[in-house]
Amino acid sequence: MDAIALDPRLRHAGAFLAKSHRMLIDGKFVAAASGKTFAVTNPATGTLIASVPEGDKADVDLAVAAARRAFDGGSWAKVSPSERGRLLWKLADLVEQNLEELAELESIDNGKPYAVARVADLPLAVDMFRYMAGWATKITGSTLALSLPGEYLSYTLREPVGVVGQIIPWNFPLLMAAWKLAPALAAGCTVVLKAAEQTPMSALRLAELVQEAGFPPGVVNILTGFGETAGAAISGHPDVDKVAFTGSTEVGKLIVQAAAGNLKKVSLELGGKSPAIILPDADLDAAIAGAASAIFFNHGQCCCAGSRLYAHKAVYDKVVAGVADIAAKIKVGPGLDPATEMGPLVSDEQFARVTSFIADGRESGARVAAGGGRVGNLGYFVQPTVLENTTPDMKVVREEIFGPVVCAQPFGDDDLDAIARQANDTIYGLAASVWTRNGGIAHKLARRIRSGTVWLNCHNVFDASLPFGGYKQSGWGREMGEEVLHNYTEVKAVTQAL
Ligand code: NAI
Ligand code: MG
Repeated sequence: MDAIALDPRLRHAGAFLAKSHRMLIDGKFVAAASGKTFAVTNPATGTLIASVPEGDKADVDLAVAAARRAFDGGSWAKVSPSERGRLLWKLADLVEQNLEELAELESIDNGKPYAVARVADLPLAVDMFRYMAGWATKITGSTLALSLPGEYLSYTLREPVGVVGQIIPWNFPLLMAAWKLAPALAAGCTVVLKAAEQTPMSALRLAELVQEAGFPPGVVNILTGFGETAGAAISGHPDVDKVAFTGSTEVGKLIVQAAAGNLKKVSLELGGKSPAIILPDADLDAAIAGAASAIFFNHGQCCCAGSRLYAHKAVYDKVVAGVADIAAKIKVGPGLDPATEMGPLVSDEQFARVTSFIADGRESGARVAAGGGRVGNLGYFVQPTVLENTTPDMKVVREEIFGPVVCAQPFGDDDLDAIARQANDTIYGLAASVWTRNGGIAHKLARRIRSGTVWLNCHNVFDASLPFGGYKQSGWGREMGEEVLHNYTEVKAVTQAL
């Protein structure tokens, strides 16, 4: 194996990276049962930054058994809602106290600029733990009025679903862990969480903070390993009551199949091909900057990236020129360089995928208005890219690219149903943004667009209170807000004859 080569710009995360890494199972830090490890690399250079345990089915079995014990009348079942809230709040404080270190881990592991991790990923993760800490004491049922003859007392209990398996992606590693862990723990579930193999570092550091916060053994188990082995062992496990997944639509379908064995509950947050729609009356400066950030934020590695740009023909040329101009000026470089605005893609696999989409777009007749190539010859850097002359049938318009590549198309219509039809011409339904000064039109379009989120004169606005998830093949269930608690609870109706 190559020697570990750490970026000299690391100021906080070097000591953690240099450690011998362990997974958290049953309140203990352990190596994989097989003793195997795998390499974690810096996508800016392709060099090794750490080796982490390669957890597989044997480790998942141990973690699920521990989670089962903690849940079934074990330590967690005896913890009061207010104590669950206190533990989540403590974890939020610990994440906040280690913000710089965690932001550096995100940057060197995922490639994203340190400053972005520091002001976006980390504060949102902290807020998610705090928001859900508040919910722990507010999960209630209701009293119901029956119409049957006779007298009854009926009420519902909202109870934790049980042992939850959680499988997360690499685009916002720590934030995705927070989105998953916080509501499950608030609801009283126990958890086996698997980090993405591309970005395991912040989850392993979070595991230490979970221990420091004082969660009882087995309540939170954090594993590193591959999807086909550890991930599949979680989704197929007969003793897991529910699986929550974020990632590709393709793997989402495999999760559903694997879950069929014991009919575990499933929630899925999957891919997208979200439209940004610019109407002729929009504040164009804001719309252009917004459409650019809709696709280029996090290098386009967002399930809700505004990857289809529709601009009215009256403003189309100006919009495309404006977005292309922004794309050309984005400073691409290593995430730890303070001047960097966009880092590398996460992996060689994503680099190959995104560049092959760009090549496919060119071959099928798209014109490259900005970017279109790689940056340098080291690491996985792709230029922010604007494709125009794209048509509804093109692969680049239909499929999720998951990179900094936007497909622009003009529209001539003023009919809102026609605009919505174009926006809805996709198997996905995660998000959309509409840019207009006309509030009535904005809200009419919001109703016509079939997606879990509609942003009006903004894009990529997230808050722990806002439910987020997909219509159509973008998923099942919602993350965040009160809504996510439904993913992690069962409702029991209790009736007594009086
Ligand atoms: P992926 O869906 O394969 O991986 C996401 C997670 O699922 C990882 O933790 C992985 O280990 C796990 N996984 C993979 N195969 C599994 C299996 N058979 N059973 C259980 N778990 C499994 O996504 P990948 O390969 O990293 O990226 C491919 C494409 O997926 C991207 O180009 C993008 O289009 C999409 N994607 C969407 C994300 C989103 O936020 N909706 C996040 C990441 C990827
Ligand atoms: Mg995959």
